[in-house]
Amino acid sequence: MSTPRAKPKYYLTTPLYYTNGMPHIGHTYSTIVADTIRRYKRMRGFDVCMTTGADEHGVNVERSAQKAGKSPQEYSTEIAVQWKQLWDDLGIPGDEFIRTTDEKHHRTVQWLFKRCRENGFVEKGRYTGQYCVHDNAYVADAGPGDNCPDCGRPTETVTEENYFFKLSEFQKKLLDFYAANPDFIQPESRRNEVLSFVNGGLKNISITRTTIRWGIPVPGEAPHVFYVWFDALIGYLSAVGGPDYDQRGLWPADLHLVGKEIIRFHAVYWPAFLMAADLPLPEKIWAHGWLLFDSEKMSKSRGNVVRPRPIVNAIGIEPLRYYLLREIVFGQDGSFSYDALVTRYNSDLANGLGNLASRTLTMIERYFGGEIPKPGPKQGGETDAPSTAEFANEALTRVMHLYDRFSFSLALESIWEIVAMIDKYITVEKPWSLADKPDDRAHLATVLYTAAEGLRVVTALAHPVLPQATQKIWSQLGQTEPLSEFQLDVLSWGQLKPGTKIGKPEGIFPRVDKSETIARIEAMEQEPNKVPEPPTGVTASAASAPGAAAAPAAAPAAKIGIEDFAKVEMRVGQVKSAERVAGADRLLQLQVDIGDEVRQIVAGLALAYKPEQLVGRKVVVVTNLQPRKLRGVESNGMIVAASLPDGAPVLAGFLEDVPVGARLK
Ligand code: MSP
Repeated sequence: MSTPRAKPKYYLTTPLYYTNGMPHIGHTYSTIVADTIRRYKRMRGFDVCMTTGADEHGVNVERSAQKAGKSPQEYSTEIAVQWKQLWDDLGIPGDEFIRTTDEKHHRTVQWLFKRCRENGFVEKGRYTGQYCVHDNAYVADAGPGDNCPDCGRPTETVTEENYFFKLSEFQKKLLDFYAANPDFIQPESRRNEVLSFVNGGLKNISITRTTIRWGIPVPGEAPHVFYVWFDALIGYLSAVGGPDYDQRGLWPADLHLVGKEIIRFHAVYWPAFLMAADLPLPEKIWAHGWLLFDSEKMSKSRGNVVRPRPIVNAIGIEPLRYYLLREIVFGQDGSFSYDALVTRYNSDLANGLGNLASRTLTMIERYFGGEIPKPGPKQGGETDAPSTAEFANEALTRVMHLYDRFSFSLALESIWEIVAMIDKYITVEKPWSLADKPDDRAHLATVLYTAAEGLRVVTALAHPVLPQATQKIWSQLGQTEPLSEFQLDVLSWGQLKPGTKIGKPEGIFPRVDKSETIARIEAMEQEPNKVPEPPTGVTASAASAPGAAAAPAAAPAAKIGIEDFAKVEMRVGQVKSAERVAGADRLLQLQVDIGDEVRQIVAGLALAYKPEQLVGRKVVVVTNLQPRKLRGVESNGMIVAASLPDGAPVLAGFLEDVPVGARLK
């Protein structure tokens, strides 16, 4: 048995992400939310463990590996390592990172299967589905006569012998469980969806395949391998002990955080598997909404994904965290927009919290030699300290209640009401005027103490969302205990000790130029695999957004082989038409003839070229880039340009006449 804990435990998980591609901002959103909950729970006295990881088996990964000319193991490992690295780089790593290719996971799946089978919930049966012989894979949701959505060839109806999990036997048990645990599925809309699904009757589900190689073997039953959900879901348990889960004492999970499209697997299949194996069930499944881009779910297959690294390189992870949690109502879908991201950054972080911190600390430095002043007697009137204290004390109870319900947006709104209140208080009290009159010294002390105390309260409350920035402000306020270890339950107004020496005031969130920042992000988006930090001026892709090239020193480019260069297809193109992209200062939307077709390309040329100057001009086009959307406009290629030190682009061209469509080598 596990040793008793000093603190209550809290175990939460993100989905285990597929390794058939790289993360986009939708996946990042889930992991950021999980990290925020982890940090909040720690500040509420819990011993927290967060698991994330990689779901590596199945046809899609097998296919992607085949396309890349690699073995599934080799391919999947490369991708899993990159996912893990990304979470580490963004400061949102799992305390556990489980891979479904881990040996301990294989053991757990096989063990759980054995328990379900011994308890009589597994049987052999025949599975019939549409199969693509060319791709060697079943096609989900296809009927006889349908073509394979991947290769377009006709599918065949195939029957194979599989193991089935007797899900049908769990209808009543699940309904009883949901009734006894009304909070198990959140939010309410998802709970209703699941209830109506289960009420409609449950069919047994096939949990093994004989047509797939890339999976966990069913012991003694070759060629059966476990199929998809009777593999991935079990990862949550493998991560914290598997068959020996008792030793760590983390199971059952307190929270599985998932996107709404996989609620059924988590709220129906998973509890049924656990019931069948006589294991404890998770406390809660929370399904959040989707991030939309151009009104559609952001997803790789739609080609409308936004990647996290360019944003983080341009303005940092904390503004992204703040934006996602403040702007999207947790549980609902929300549109992602660069414009709103940068607007929020400038208004709430640069002008809001950052400005409050810097003006408060600077005045304490200037008027009180860098020591928190002792507040003077009550001043009376609407701006007196006690009413500020009451407001803040009320707000902090409200904020914790909102965090408890994962109402992040409202929690942040309430915290920023404190920011606004203190800002207003400073503006009304005018400490800079009080500083001119020696008689007002006590009043000045009250005002600056109140501002600093308000800042301390705000900083503690915002820590789960803005861990680094708040830690900086906290230290600048002279607080020595790491903020992550501070307990919110003891937070109340008036704890800031007069006489505390503050640190040197430093800017936390410098204001940024909106169009320049967006152009930089979009330029980096053009190079998904590059990690520019800061962006350098050496690549031609700067043509898509010259701001990206404005960074000073260009690091020497790593040498590549000729075979790498040969992967880039460049051709001579001729601009047929050009117009500005609405709302983007630097972008032009071009139609470019590249010989055998006319391509639409969005390029960051507008600051150096007028649209009419470009029509008829011959340009160099990179033609084999993945299509991307810039400001909602699809761009199908890239124009090559040199980049001047001030970021202005200069188009590459030819002295001799060249035919349109000619290849560059
Ligand atoms: N491998 C399965 C999950 C197995 S869990 C035992 C899977 N993987 S996934 O890579 O497709 O990740 C899906 C999850 O990523 C979603 O449930 C959600 O948490 C997150 N998101 C993916 N796209 C998203 C959006 N556009 N918006 C918000 N979250 C999104 O499904």
